[in-house]
Amino acid sequence: MTTYRTAIIGLSWIATDPPPPASDPVLGTSIPYSHAAALAAVPNVEVVAGCDINPAMRDQFLERWSGRWPGAKTYENYREMLAREKPDLVSIVTPDFLHADPFLAAVEHGAKGIFCDKPLATNLADADRMVAAAKAAGTVVNINFTRRWIPQYVNARAILRSGRLGDLSQIIAESGGPRAMLFRNHTHLVDLLCYYADGDPIWVVSELEPGFEDYGTEYKGDGGKTESSEPAANYYVAFANGVRAYLTGMKNTQPDTIVSLRAAKGRITVDEFGSELRAIAGGGTMMPSGAPTRQTEFLAPAYSISGMHAAVVDLITGLETGRPTASPVEHARRTTAIIEAVLQSQAQGNVRVPVAPPQP
Ligand SMILES: NC(=O)c1ccc[n+]([C@@H]2O[C@H](COP(=O)([O-])OP(=O)(O)OC[C@H]3O[C@@H](n4cnc5c(N)ncnc54)[C@H](O)[C@@H]3O)[C@@H](O)[C@H]2O)c1
Repeated sequence: MTTYRTAIIGLSWIATDPPPPASDPVLGTSIPYSHAAALAAVPNVEVVAGCDINPAMRDQFLERWSGRWPGAKTYENYREMLAREKPDLVSIVTPDFLHADPFLAAVEHGAKGIFCDKPLATNLADADRMVAAAKAAGTVVNINFTRRWIPQYVNARAILRSGRLGDLSQIIAESGGPRAMLFRNHTHLVDLLCYYADGDPIWVVSELEPGFEDYGTEYKGDGGKTESSEPAANYYVAFANGVRAYLTGMKNTQPDTIVSLRAAKGRITVDEFGSELRAIAGGGTMMPSGAPTRQTEFLAPAYSISGMHAAVVDLITGLETGRPTASPVEHARRTTAIIEAVLQSQAQGNVRVPVAPPQP
């Protein structure tokens, strides 16, 4: 079995947190929720190095993980690390606005696979450079829109794709709480619109949170640290295949995210706690002439692995077999393109604006 020499760039909590304590001595632990914990769950991955500009983060990484990977080194400069270690896989966990340069450097230094945290980039120019570089080099990529490996989200898509509910026509996604920030938590929901719509977004109409009317068309956040540095947003997205999506982001609401998938013969709602399928049969829902019945099915999908652990396995499987990964770079580009169109729509007076199509 090939051993994948792996390096991590950016060593904050989401990169290096230890796995949660075992929830059951027999059944094992909870889902790993950091890059290192996910990489540690895959036996043929060896993390050989970690890089951070902050020495305290480098020390913390070694304290936490040198038991698992005794040879792991740390670096202050990721270019030096990539040149010396020549890793097969690279995890990129730098701030939201700082993914492009380490990503391009990893491609340049011959990484075969990249697991990059979301969003792909905070502007489309960076996203396009990343797509082009990965494509030219044949680098296999997974962008960490984590819900693409969480059972209830995956299962909802499988049901839609089975055709059992007929065509999907509408997606309503609600993002709540103070962290419903456009470039931060919100991006998970934008990605879910694209994941379920399964096509190219073509135009957007948006309104940013009151107070951000003059935000402009460029990212002005600080990597998700200050909630007031990024607006929430409400917007409508049209997809080329006819699917229409409405995304509400309101900070002054409870921290809840819910996605409602409305198809011809039923609706699936999915949130962090599970999913439910609701179908109405035998009449209309309003003033029925017949006797409508509501069938509710609580879905309890079970898979053997999930979350970031599954993302790493998916990346390696993609590398070894050529199977497309669940969150490839060209899909993640759609999220950045939609967000850029959201800013353009606001800047032009809340009008309909096109979403930039992929580069040829
Ligand atoms: N998928 C998820 O559920 C999830 C959850 C949380 C965070 N994230 C993502 O993870 C990423 C990191 O988020 P964060 O809040 O921990 O970011 P952060 O701002 O804390 O930065 C992460 C680390 O990168 C280091 N860093 C900055 N510049 C660097 C450079 N040039 N070279 C090496 N290291 C550098 C910082 O010192 C820090 O330790 C973001 O993209 C964020 O959106 C994803």
